[in-house]
Amino acid sequence: MKISEILLLGPVIPVIVIDNADLAPALGEALLSGGIKSIEVTLRTDAALDSIERLARDLPEICVGAGTILSETNASSAANAGARFGVCPGSTPSIINACRVQNLPLLPGASTVSEILTLHEAGFTAMKFFPAAAAGGIQFIKSLSSPLPHIQFCPTGGITYDTASEWLALKNVICVGGSWLAPTNDINQKKFLEITERAKRASTLENYENATY
Ligand code: 3PG
Repeated sequence: MKISEILLLGPVIPVIVIDNADLAPALGEALLSGGIKSIEVTLRTDAALDSIERLARDLPEICVGAGTILSETNASSAANAGARFGVCPGSTPSIINACRVQNLPLLPGASTVSEILTLHEAGFTAMKFFPAAAAGGIQFIKSLSSPLPHIQFCPTGGITYDTASEWLALKNVICVGGSWLAPTNDINQKKFLEITERAKRASTLENYENATY
């Protein structure tokens, strides 16, 4: 799948920071039960790659991506573990190239107009806006829809259930990312019912495409 297709799988991509890969399948089931079809597992813990591998193997219904890709090595490890896409908080030519070599669709990050244009020159029309709340918030992305109507965003960073629908109402926002659905402590405490409930609420949020204005 192309990154633009992956971003259309649902209005919210849960951002997962997981400490224990043994909990990955149950977490995946909990999110899937709540209607989530794509997740980002951040490469910030020792359990991340193993978790991606187990999710990719046991739950192919979920499109699992690897987040916090910060190097060429991260890109190849993620692809080898079975990640179907990569997410980077920013971007560098070497990371972009490494993902291309691995055939790993990339959601690169940008937080300024020049970074967005640089990514567009590199062939990207969909990108992560990070850190969304801190780097200008809703007004920033809203301001881009007129001069840059061909660029679509997945804002991530500081978004919660309460603010997600405001972001999703923007026509240049395809989906949002956020850790609020499945925080690490809840995963560690196996609060899977709560995670499913939050997933249900998140996966039924309306985005611009579906909204009736
Ligand atoms: C991250 O990389 O941690 C994501 O941007 C998630 O941010 P959040 O915890 O503010 O949702």
